Amino acid sequence: MRYQEELIEEIREKNDIVDVISSYVSLKKKGNSYFGLCPFHGEKTPSFHVSPDRQMYYCFGCGQGGNVYTFLMEYNRMTFTEALKELGKRAGVEVPERSMSPEEQKEADDRDVLLAMNKDAAVYFHYLLKSKRGANAMAYLKERGLSDEMIRHFGLGYADIYRDDLYQYLKGKGYTDLQMKESSLVTIDTAKGSYDQFFNRVMFPIMDARQRVIGFGGRVMGEGQPKYLNSRETVLFDKGRNLYGLGYARRSREPGIILCEGYMDVIALHQAGLTNAVAPLGTAFTPSQALMLRRYTDEVILSFDSDGAGIKAARRALPILREAGLSAKVLSMKPFKDPDELIRQEGVQGYRRRLEEAKVGRMFELDVLYDEFDQKDPDGRTQFVHAAARELAQIEEPIERENYVTAASNRFMIKKKDLASLVDRYGMEYELKKAGEENRRPVQTEETRRRKKEDARKQPQILLLSWICDSPALYDALRPYLSADDFLDPVCHAVAMIVFEKLDSGQELKPAQIIDRFTDVEKQQEAAAIFHGHLPQAEESWKKAVTDVTRKVLMASVEEEMSRTSEIERWQDLLKRRKEIQKFTIE
Ligand code: GTP
Ligand code: MN
Repeated sequence: MRYQEELIEEIREKNDIVDVISSYVSLKKKGNSYFGLCPFHGEKTPSFHVSPDRQMYYCFGCGQGGNVYTFLMEYNRMTFTEALKELGKRAGVEVPERSMSPEEQKEADDRDVLLAMNKDAAVYFHYLLKSKRGANAMAYLKERGLSDEMIRHFGLGYADIYRDDLYQYLKGKGYTDLQMKESSLVTIDTAKGSYDQFFNRVMFPIMDARQRVIGFGGRVMGEGQPKYLNSRETVLFDKGRNLYGLGYARRSREPGIILCEGYMDVIALHQAGLTNAVAPLGTAFTPSQALMLRRYTDEVILSFDSDGAGIKAARRALPILREAGLSAKVLSMKPFKDPDELIRQEGVQGYRRRLEEAKVGRMFELDVLYDEFDQKDPDGRTQFVHAAARELAQIEEPIERENYVTAASNRFMIKKKDLASLVDRYGMEYELKKAGEENRRPVQTEETRRRKKEDARKQPQILLLSWICDSPALYDALRPYLSADDFLDPVCHAVAMIVFEKLDSGQELKPAQIIDRFTDVEKQQEAAAIFHGHLPQAEESWKKAVTDVTRKVLMASVEEEMSRTSEIERWQDLLKRRKEIQKFTIE
């Protein structure tokens, strides 16, 4: 184990969550709890909720939640140990230095060493930039219009011209060759000598959503190839799962998140006050990145370069955003090349004007199609109408489709009736094709399918557990039918084990304490969500909801076992249980 549970608990109880959070976020009392603007995502109406009874916080907007420890870990980007020490100090409780078991040591070490090394390297590059040796690099950044404040804010730096400058520096700090090799900062070569990955480049440290340095991008100053060099992927650095600027953008008060192409665009936008800008890390936008954005916003504004590559990138990103449930708008930078250049020429007003004129994603797609055909040629025109109808036919929601058919017929001067009937025709073909694809069950969607199924199972588990925690009376009613093992999701299962044990032995439920059983922040957040469900108010809907949800949880559990068992007798028992569950109702 880590620290003694009693110590963690004592320090937690001595730090009232409302007091602690109030020193960071302005909270208003409402009934038994407190509300405020969520510090973890940009919002205008408060959905951040702090409960003194539960000693927990939860945001109904972005789903972040936890206890005082989680809050400090997320807000101040602390490790658990740092949060514990900080709160210990606040409450006047001494926290002894801990001793870890060798396995714990090893596990914690690999990542921590890399994080520390990256941070040291970033600090060193930044120091060089500000020193005499970095004069050229500084002049380059200034020439590109970056303020001192932004250079500090993004921790920009300079990698010197010597081939092993960083290697020697890190060696001096006590890092071993083996550790450096894992970092992608240095190439270890016993024959030719070790040399740095980056030299004579302006350095952009790449940080994750919690602002920890996980990799670097380095740009040549002026012309030269390759223009940018990025760190190779490491255990810390996964290019498809991080976005440049997200650590700041997720706290921005600007509406939506702006997605642009490059590091310089992000910095130029932040400098202009658009602190909600992010960019992929030199690779195409991925579905995982879309899901990350989904945690902080409903709307993404694409602000790519105005050239052919930028238009292509926008066309690729739009379906990915749609699939993640995000709405999208597209900005045009014309006649300028990219956001950086636009802002230098027209200032932030120019950019904001374009934000107001942004096209919704679907219209952008149709406009791109329009440009692809020769509208003066009758055949070209016909082909365009068919192509547009095929696009529109893919909109599954009927009202949305109808609205776009109207909008497109006005914009491109096509008779609405004609367009609508074409759309219906292609819609049927599209449905048939989709049905065909589903029958063939392509291998690559197997993973998505499994995930969707898991999500569909998890939701009722979370609901039911949250209701049980909310109402011990409900627990008494359900106990004969339900065991902790019926919760298949690992986090729900772990929470159910503790909750059931406490309630069975008549102990008090302390949600904030239960959260501490999870070492990883992501799991803490999932567990926190469980303690923030509420029972539906009206008696009728209450019974129906509980009955439905309980049935779903029990059914999934039985089916899971049926899929594993090969004993015919057990199988028959399970079949019988299935029938019982179908008849189950709560009184
Ligand atoms: P500036 O030219 O400095 O304004 O940079 P930019 O950010 O506008 O770059 P650009 O639009 O040319 O490219 C967008 C992004 O693609 C960059 O921020 C990099 O992440 C990546 N990129 C650009 N050039 C290269 C390259 O030569 N190699 C690699 N690996 N990535 C590149
Ligand atoms: Mn640029």
